[in-house]
Amino acid sequence: MAEQSKKWILMVTAQTPTNIAVIKYWGKRDENLILAINDSISVTLDPAHLCTTTTVAVSPSFQQDRMWLNKKEISLDGARYQNCLREIRARANDYEDEKKGIKISKNDWQNLHVHIDSYNNFPTAAGLASSAAGFACLVFSLAKLMNVQEDNGRLSAIARQGSGSACRSLFGGFVKWVMGKEEDGSDSIAVPLVDEKHWDELVIIIAVVSSRQKETSSTSGMRETVVTSALIEHRAKEVVPKRIIQMEEAIQNRDFPTFAQLTCSDSNQFHAVCMDTSPPIFYMNDTSHRVISCVEKWNRAEGTPQVAYTFDAGPNAVLIARNRKAAALMLQRLLFHFPPNSDTDLDSYVIGDKSILKDAG
Ligand code: ADP
Ligand code: DP6
Ligand code: CO
Repeated sequence: MAEQSKKWILMVTAQTPTNIAVIKYWGKRDENLILAINDSISVTLDPAHLCTTTTVAVSPSFQQDRMWLNKKEISLDGARYQNCLREIRARANDYEDEKKGIKISKNDWQNLHVHIDSYNNFPTAAGLASSAAGFACLVFSLAKLMNVQEDNGRLSAIARQGSGSACRSLFGGFVKWVMGKEEDGSDSIAVPLVDEKHWDELVIIIAVVSSRQKETSSTSGMRETVVTSALIEHRAKEVVPKRIIQMEEAIQNRDFPTFAQLTCSDSNQFHAVCMDTSPPIFYMNDTSHRVISCVEKWNRAEGTPQVAYTFDAGPNAVLIARNRKAAALMLQRLLFHFPPNSDTDLDSYVIGDKSILKDAG
């Protein structure tokens, strides 16, 4: 490579959807490797609506690794970015493009610098899992650039070291993050449960209550919960393991009532452990609570659940409707209860047509 011209630049662009957990991850047993205290299950969203687009470039003329997030330069010094870059570089392979006269050997990648340009088409750090789409996309695009040959499961273990929830965005459909037992995190990976076609009647509505950046990041929030909450151990050891089994079964059987009951209960319990943290963490606000009441009342009136709600670490509602008809009625209800341009209006709605989508890339 040394004798080649410094003019070439090699680029890869990837797009990765976000994922929303229906059984939540909250709490780490290892902060550096990002190992969870419980398994979690999520659904990967339609990249047409909520996704990260990342372009990674390499050139001998680059002097250092640099990154831009939503058009602003950010520092790559943090351990999460460094861990992802190191793990991908360690697995890089020879690359050759004869036409362009580019030849990069395995070892060259250690000395070549990358420039990363990433953009989220939805609010960043607002509880819509930007860290999930962001780190999954970063790892996926770097792996393509450096000709890494590992499968998405192995890549998920690297994305996990960027942000825990990111490991689940390497697959479409419903995905489980197995917490694993190994100290080195080698068995803490994402596994696809069912693909996006398995339950394609589901429609996901995102009601953006606020696109403002949250006050407590997921990382610091869950750290405080693990240290101070008396409920978290009960949740991680007693409640979640049972729910994981029930949720997997509900997904396999497309059993919407059980799915909805588990999803809503798990979201509520996650926010209960946030409240049980000292000082308490409030991710939901009054509007979020009103969305919950609206869904609960409607589900009860119908006699069987039409919509499940779940809230991540932020005030924004993710509503999973059993089919298109329920989604349309839900949207009508939202517009009625939160009229646009009123005191209680929502920032925006995103409605997925085919909300559960394919694998990353
Ligand atoms: P969220 O609920 O949006 O996931 P988090 O607090 O978990 O919020 O994470 C937000 C952080 O994730 C951001 O401050 C940034 O460090 C990182 N992040 C978000 N988007 C990207 C991206 N596209 N690429 C890399 N990192 C990202
Ligand atoms: C509430 O994955 O954002 O969204 O691993 O510290 O980056 P870090 O946290 P993050 O936490 C996600 C928490 C959650 C639930 C979930 O996605 O499972
Ligand atoms: Co996050």
